[in-house]
Amino acid sequence: MKNIAIFASGNGSNAENIVRTFAAGNRVRVAVVLTNKENAGVIARMENLGIPVLYFPNEVWDTQPVRILEAMAPYGVDLVVLAGFMRKVQDPIVEAFEGRMLNIHPSLIPAYCGKGMYGHKVHEAVVAAGEKQSGVTVHMVTSDIDSGEIVMQGIVELPPDETPASLEEKIHEIEYEIYPRAIVKVLRGNDTTAGNAPAAVPPPLPRMATPDEQWAQALNIPYDPPRTEKQEAATPPVIPASTATVPPPMPTAAPLPAAAPCCAPAAAAVPLHAEETDKPASPFLAWSIVFLILFGPIPAVVALIYSIRTRRLNGIGDYAGARHASSVCQGWLIASFCIGVLMATLYLPVMIAASIL
Ligand code: GRF
Repeated sequence: MKNIAIFASGNGSNAENIVRTFAAGNRVRVAVVLTNKENAGVIARMENLGIPVLYFPNEVWDTQPVRILEAMAPYGVDLVVLAGFMRKVQDPIVEAFEGRMLNIHPSLIPAYCGKGMYGHKVHEAVVAAGEKQSGVTVHMVTSDIDSGEIVMQGIVELPPDETPASLEEKIHEIEYEIYPRAIVKVLRGNDTTAGNAPAAVPPPLPRMATPDEQWAQALNIPYDPPRTEKQEAATPPVIPASTATVPPPMPTAAPLPAAAPCCAPAAAAVPLHAEETDKPASPFLAWSIVFLILFGPIPAVVALIYSIRTRRLNGIGDYAGARHASSVCQGWLIASFCIGVLMATLYLPVMIAASIL
């Protein structure tokens, strides 16, 4: 698990998006948020999400950066992410997180950046200049403002009637899309850089589940294969319950009407009246349709949900999570197929059971 610390001073919509994006996986999490504004919107957002927030006034940020580093120490921070942090980060902090601190700027750096170019001012300047394009830049933080290596950029087109407010809205949408991607890119890059990966980070990537394990996962049943010492070592860490994605339980079939005993008492031997033997088929057809509608599509819908989830996790670079979601999806598809077949063949038993009743 990689730990992120977010520095934020404002509304905190990027911070919230980052928390929510990574909460869906099990590789990255926001461990703590630090702010320099006592009433910043980000504080309430994080409280709602259960993320600890540490507040330090500007004076501490400017003159006692070591206190900031000490406050972060218990969280084992792998990456610092600036999301609307309106204060220059002092050199001791930048140096402690060299190559591990990102910022997002709402323009296409090198355009509209540097001192005094932040937030809404950027959008006002871009619109006033009649630009046809603007965008977002995620870059490494160095001691010079907005000048570190560019990690990722996203572009937006400006129609002639663009306003600073409408541009800001578009920019935010792009930010929500690319900031999590940039974070994954940097974390992965740091992992493969010899000597740069923090010692606390578990190095192995989870291995692919075997077909048997995939089945077990898909059907939500325990799988306990015989283990050798080697297999034991290769087993990926247990996913904490809070982040684990557990497929919903298989729908259980509704109980069939109780069948009559095979050796029925005398009453069964009594010849039936004509109208009793002549039962219409339509009620049984109705049973089948109800079964099909109730149980057939449920696994298919679950499979669809996991398929969408796979796509999203792939999009944000959480490949382990995507692989897991993909195998769960595969399991539910198989279940859907099997239930479809069962439904077709259940028609006969239901007819028999219903005719006995
Ligand atoms: C974002 O537009 C970001 O580019 C800039 O500050 C803004 C923060 O917005 N650095 P929010 O607080 O995340 O909503």
